[in-house]
Amino acid sequence: MIVAGNWKMNTDLVTARTLARDIVDAIADPGRVTVVLCPPFISLHAVSEVIRNAPVDLGAQNVHHEESGAFTGEISAPMLRSVGCRYVIIGHSERRQYFQESDELIHRKIQTALSYELRPILCVGETLDERKAGREEEVVRRQLSGALQDVVIRDPDHLVIAYEPVWAIGTGETATPEQAQAMHAFIRKCLDDILDASLARATKILYGGSVKPDNASELFENEDVDGGLIGGASLKAADFATIVRAAQ
Ligand code: PGA
Repeated sequence: MIVAGNWKMNTDLVTARTLARDIVDAIADPGRVTVVLCPPFISLHAVSEVIRNAPVDLGAQNVHHEESGAFTGEISAPMLRSVGCRYVIIGHSERRQYFQESDELIHRKIQTALSYELRPILCVGETLDERKAGREEEVVRRQLSGALQDVVIRDPDHLVIAYEPVWAIGTGETATPEQAQAMHAFIRKCLDDILDASLARATKILYGGSVKPDNASELFENEDVDGGLIGGASLKAADFATIVRAAQ
């Protein structure tokens, strides 16, 4: 199981350091659960110092697809590696929606991340209109094949998928455990077609979208749900720790 906290554009340097410290204290021993914190870029280094001896990994929320050059304001994969990142969120619906990230761009980011040994947490998920129109599987399949076509994954641990229905992000509306399980099983089937059977079986598929302490267990209980990508609830150490315990 993996539980990742996506802090989004929240915390400054001081509050990020405090939150990381509080989370490390609150979770103490996560057992076999991989815990990943994804603070804003400017706090990555500080958080990496706080978690140095803790059973917690570091992730970024985005990466540029080129490795260096004249891209004012952007952050590259080798930069993320240099501050201790092991994971990077790619293709979050907020990036797709507000920054016009296409499947093609997301594909390039995945390739670049992998070549620098960063593990992508690839986000996919349909909007409310798409679900109402019965198009959720078509949309998720397109996002997966757009991002992963011709990508070489050598080890199932090198890639993480997060299913995040857009209508459930930050809305308090959660997919039912049945909806989550059905889509996760479908994602595994897509991975079988796009990658191969053994990767499809072993790749971790996280659920994201209003995961809270009181609904985490019923979501994580499902066979194809391998953890969660947590937004709002990852900003409160006690809530995040409760979610990590649910994954245990
Ligand atoms: P939320 O966000 O938990 O606040 O719904 C999840 C995400 O966007 O990763």
